[in-house]
Amino acid sequence: KDPRIHGIQTKIRVVPDFPKQGIMFQDITTLLLDPKAFKDTIDLFVERYKGKNISVVAGIEARGFIFGPPIALAIGAKFVPLRKPKKLPGKVISEEYILEYGRDCLEMHVGAVETGDHVLVVDDLIATGGTLCAAMNLLERVGAQVVECACVIELPDLKGRERLNDKPLYVLVESH
Ligand code: PRP
Ligand code: MG
Repeated sequence: KDPRIHGIQTKIRVVPDFPKQGIMFQDITTLLLDPKAFKDTIDLFVERYKGKNISVVAGIEARGFIFGPPIALAIGAKFVPLRKPKKLPGKVISEEYILEYGRDCLEMHVGAVETGDHVLVVDDLIATGGTLCAAMNLLERVGAQVVECACVIELPDLKGRERLNDKPLYVLVESH
C-alpha cells in the first residue's frame, strides 16, 4: 500500500450522527485544508490513470466536482459534470436512482460524451453504490465505455461494490 494513503486517511474527519442519527459522515473538507494530503490524493489517481487513454473524466455533483477536475487536467482528459436535476441549461439525459430516503437523479448534457469515449467516473465516496450505478447507466446509454470508477472513500460494509456489476472500482481509503 502506498505510504501516502495513511496521511490521507488521517485528514478525513468522521462526524457521528450527521446529517442523521446513526450516520458516520465522512467529511473531506478537512482533507482539502491540507494541501499535501489533497495533492497526494490527486497524484495517486493521476499516477493510476495517466497514459491509460481516458478521454473523459465524469464528476458527480457535488463532491465529485472537487476531485474530478484536477485529475482531468493532469491526464489531459475532458471534464464532464453529472449534475443534480434542473441545473444544466442544454438538452440532457437523466437517470433516476433510489436513496436511503427517497429518490434522486443525475443529468448529463447530450453531446458532452460520445460513443467511443473512454470514461473515468469520479466521486468522493461510495456507500450503497446507487449514485455510481446511475452515473454509469447514463454514460453507457450514450455509448461510452466506463473504464473505472474512482472514489476517495469506500464504506465496504454497505456492499456498494456489488451493485456495480463487475465494473472496476478503485478507492484509496476504506472506512468501517
Ligand atoms: C454522497 C456522496 C456520494 C453518494 C454516495 O453524495 O458524495 O456522491 O452520497 O452514496 P451512495 O453510494 O449510497 O449512492 P450526496 O448525494 O449526499 O450529495 P453531495 O455530494 O451533493 O453532497
Ligand atoms: Mg455526492
